[in-house]
Amino acid sequence: MTEPVILTEQLGREFAGTWAVRDLDLAVQPGEIYGFLGQNGAGKTTTLRMLTGLLLPSAGRLRIAGLDHATSSRELKAQLGFVPDTPPLYDYLTGRQYVALVASLWHVPRAQRDERCERLLAMLGMDDHADELCKGYSHGTRKKIHLVAVLTTAPPVLLLDEPTSGLDPLSTRRLKELLLAEAARGTTILLSTHGLELAEQVCHRVGILARGRLRCEGTVADLRAAHGDKTLEDVFVAVTEAAT
Ligand SMILES: Nc1ncnc2c1ncn2[C@@H]1O[C@H](COP(=O)(O)OP(=O)(O)O)[C@@H](O)[C@H]1O
Ligand SMILES: [Mg+2]
Repeated sequence: MTEPVILTEQLGREFAGTWAVRDLDLAVQPGEIYGFLGQNGAGKTTTLRMLTGLLLPSAGRLRIAGLDHATSSRELKAQLGFVPDTPPLYDYLTGRQYVALVASLWHVPRAQRDERCERLLAMLGMDDHADELCKGYSHGTRKKIHLVAVLTTAPPVLLLDEPTSGLDPLSTRRLKELLLAEAARGTTILLSTHGLELAEQVCHRVGILARGRLRCEGTVADLRAAHGDKTLEDVFVAVTEAAT
């Protein structure tokens, strides 16, 4: 069996004696969309930041595409695209200029960059905003432009922190279609979300984090069946309350 694209073993991170994430074993397969659910402070962002290399783990191991963060962190980062919850953009660049800047840093050939950028802007319905300065962008528009920039580099692994926060329903729909299309092309996706609808419609598997630990994981159908066919919201509430 091939190694999962994202693999963590007993991964943990503590801040001043408190574990934000603890004993996390995760295995995400090629082309899979895996969604983290969990209330505020559950440890979702901390996990994503460890996977990106922005934050060092306090315990455990992680490997991405067979690369160990301890020995191959540079090669590992080259596999990743990360869209944080509040993406940093340059205020005085337009969206298109920002995408071009990111693509040039990643040495994406111009023709490929233009083709990908225009296709992604159109898919997310961003044509109208792409030539405005990032300074004036709403939270949702910032996230979409950052996502376009990241996807222009065609990363094999995509990490998204609350990708639908700040997005209107139409943009959310388009994002769902985009994520499914990316996964169908083989991109491995790990995201965090409060959107149970996103989890149900897009994620192949979900995991519920509470107080830094993964309390359960599986397909949405599996989780619902294991809880007497309750809704995903009921399962989320039950699992989260049981952990407090
Ligand atoms: N840089 C930090 N310093 C201290 N505590 C942190 C830091 N980052 C996160 N935490 C703590 O770790 C826990 C998990 O936070 P986080 O991963 O942001 O949760 P989530 O993304 O699920 O809302 C919280 O209790 C938070 O206060
Ligand atoms: Mg968070």
